[in-house]
Amino acid sequence: MNATDSFFSTPAAQDIEAPLVQLKDVHLSFGDNHVLKGINVEVRRGQAVSIIGPSGSGKSTILRCITGLLRPQAGQISVGDTRVDTLRTEAELIALRKRVGFVFQQYNLFPHLTVLQNLVIAPTRVVGRSRSVAERDARALLEKVRLAHKADAYPGELSGGQQQRVAIARALAMQPELILFDEVTSALDPETVGEVLTVIRDLVKEGMTCVLVTHEMRFAEEISDQVYFTEAGSIVEHGPVAQIFGAPRSERTRQFLQRALGEGQRARPAPPAEALRFNQLRFAL
Ligand SMILES: Nc1ncnc2c1ncn2[C@@H]1O[C@H](COP(=O)(O)OP(=O)(O)O)[C@@H](O)[C@H]1O
Ligand SMILES: [Mg+2]
Repeated sequence: MNATDSFFSTPAAQDIEAPLVQLKDVHLSFGDNHVLKGINVEVRRGQAVSIIGPSGSGKSTILRCITGLLRPQAGQISVGDTRVDTLRTEAELIALRKRVGFVFQQYNLFPHLTVLQNLVIAPTRVVGRSRSVAERDARALLEKVRLAHKADAYPGELSGGQQQRVAIARALAMQPELILFDEVTSALDPETVGEVLTVIRDLVKEGMTCVLVTHEMRFAEEISDQVYFTEAGSIVEHGPVAQIFGAPRSERTRQFLQRALGEGQRARPAPPAEALRFNQLRFAL
């Protein structure tokens, strides 16, 4: 390094890496419904960022904007060097989605393909990886999600938690730069939630960049670096996990967490006999 270099490239400038994901003043409406009202989010490489907030507050919409599934009317979204909000062609969007894994509440595995085939199909067809390499990688990923013994099973033969772990492995098979998780445990039986959270916890520990929308508040508290609290299309508050869970600045955040944590800690009450009868009637019809 010569004197000129050291003068222009200060250590501070070199140390500050640009965020991997950045949303700046993002606005999105569905018709008259102004759903995102100036969203700012930053995710750095290796971070786990949780988005929490009431139902309908825009959490899923934020994730769908990051993958280019939805285009905001205003604002900027970038993933690495890619400006997501200005992508035009299908080819550009496909290129983006190779880099951004997305796992939903509904796992949407191909029911007619085995677990292994579910993992191999995108890497071979979309990225052109050889079958032998894709299969080797898929088996390693099944090991990682603790399902090596289910490689030849069909999705219908697996529990919800197992299928969701396959869905996570399928996202990982594309070797994404980051993974978005949208309420991936919400549809699961309570006894299989833990095994899915364990897989996500392992990924976070390995340094995979993760953005997590979740109702599992204790889990968000445990694994997140940063937490965003959304309400009615705005970010009410964001900050390090210790701030949001320990000393929230907004009264709204405090109330939300109090309610969410309170409900999470209580055992699920047994439904009253009347409700059961009503449900039986409804499903019998
Ligand atoms: N495809 C869509 N068309 C019209 N309205 C939508 C669509 N998706 C979401 N919305 C609306 O946007 C708002 C935010 O939804 P969403 O991002 O799914 O919230 P959350 O994930 O926080 O529950 C809601 O009012 C919802 O009804
Ligand atoms: Mg949602």
